[in-house]
Amino acid sequence: MLRFILNDKSIETEFASGSTVLDFVRYHKRLVGTKIGCREGDCGACTVLVGDMENLPADRQGDKLVYRTMTSCLMPLGNAAGKHIVTVEGINMKTLTPVQQAMVDTNGTQCGFCTIGFVMSFTGFILDESAKQYDEAIAAIDGNICRCTGYKSIERAAAILSEKIADKPQTGHLQWLTNNNFIPAYFSNIKDRLLELRKDSIAATDSPGNNLIVGGGTDLIVQKHLLVKKSGIDHVFDKNGLKGIKLENGRCVIGASVTVTHFAASTLIQDFFPNLKKHIKLISSTPIRNMATLAGNLVNASPIGDMSVFLLALDASVVLNNGKTQREIKLKDFYKAYKQIDKAADEFIETIVFTPPLKNDFFGFEKVCKRTHLDIASVNCAIKISYNEDGTISDMHLAAGGVAPFPKYLEQTISFLKNKNITVETLQDAIAVIDTEIAPISDARGTKEYKQLLLRQLFLAHFQNDEKTIKKLLSIN
Ligand code: FES
Ligand code: FES
Repeated sequence: MLRFILNDKSIETEFASGSTVLDFVRYHKRLVGTKIGCREGDCGACTVLVGDMENLPADRQGDKLVYRTMTSCLMPLGNAAGKHIVTVEGINMKTLTPVQQAMVDTNGTQCGFCTIGFVMSFTGFILDESAKQYDEAIAAIDGNICRCTGYKSIERAAAILSEKIADKPQTGHLQWLTNNNFIPAYFSNIKDRLLELRKDSIAATDSPGNNLIVGGGTDLIVQKHLLVKKSGIDHVFDKNGLKGIKLENGRCVIGASVTVTHFAASTLIQDFFPNLKKHIKLISSTPIRNMATLAGNLVNASPIGDMSVFLLALDASVVLNNGKTQREIKLKDFYKAYKQIDKAADEFIETIVFTPPLKNDFFGFEKVCKRTHLDIASVNCAIKISYNEDGTISDMHLAAGGVAPFPKYLEQTISFLKNKNITVETLQDAIAVIDTEIAPISDARGTKEYKQLLLRQLFLAHFQNDEKTIKKLLSIN
């Protein structure tokens, strides 16, 4: 039995936990405001808000209610357990909300098909306790596509909204939003209802076994939605013990169910990656990052998985558990061939571990795709460089996606560059080594020659962004 809150109603349902939230709200509850566009997380027409108690330690007794946008077409219904799902019907009041009114006042809607998604994403922006600025409003709609308006009118709506919430306090922001008619009054007691509800509902998702393991579902549901719908599922998205990010014996230990959003929001992680915000902006969209787990990206083994390449460049390992024993394996050894990983059927990823970069290390992540946001990479590339005192490279890890059947750890290029001084000639020679260890193929994301060229450029871009390299090259030349 799944229990959650849908708008202001308590839900108890025996619906298959592998069904999507989209199908449940549209076809079972007839809440047809939520639209279906692509069913692949690409258009944002199906965006809903998901309220959950966050900052929770292992005992799940946290007390902070956080709302995040998610694409309901990819959200397994089982992941709604213990949460507050909000569709557009759940924010409607007698008069238009300020978000809806801003879209009207700026002619931000034409055919209207995308409008609900934009309204929900903007509502997610105003519900974010720390967000107020125009660029944060724009970032909140990075997962929404409109084919009619040309976006300028929607951007004007974003500007109006950021002005309207200028006085929103950080503490008690939900009360302020209900008092000012941004959201209906029933939001005021959702936290108490969730705390009561989660006592039962979390247990419903905590059933390890030989079932299909599903985290955020963002990839599995796109590829195999019928399989997910019909399988017995072990929902690990909210599973005790698979959450949390900590530093242990000098290594970062990340629970398998940590999402990209939680990774990016972690102050521990932010301290180690000064350019993290810029890197994460290249990865998918806000609603997808809110759902996608790091471990899901690794086991999916996509040749262009962004977080796979990011973690390979940290020389990360995964800790696999089969319920009886654990083993740790380097990510570079985890990938065997196209979609083949070194993981037995009864094993699941428990944690991801890596030694964080030191203050003097350089870490870079670069990506080229057809669209700026919400797109799969043509090629992506990440690097970590450590230097000796004399400026030569002491240690380095380099990985690329889109140039091999799996995320590629560029072993030969790494050994070529170790203990070398960085000069223009060294980098040119390194590119020649890269060319020998990649095998891109021509597909919808570019020809093999184009991808080869992209990787060369992205590789050089890292060094262009690394101040130490720039200073060195300027002093040499
Ligand atoms: Fe397009 Fe869900 S229907 S993102
Ligand atoms: Fe028509 Fe956006 S108003 S798709």
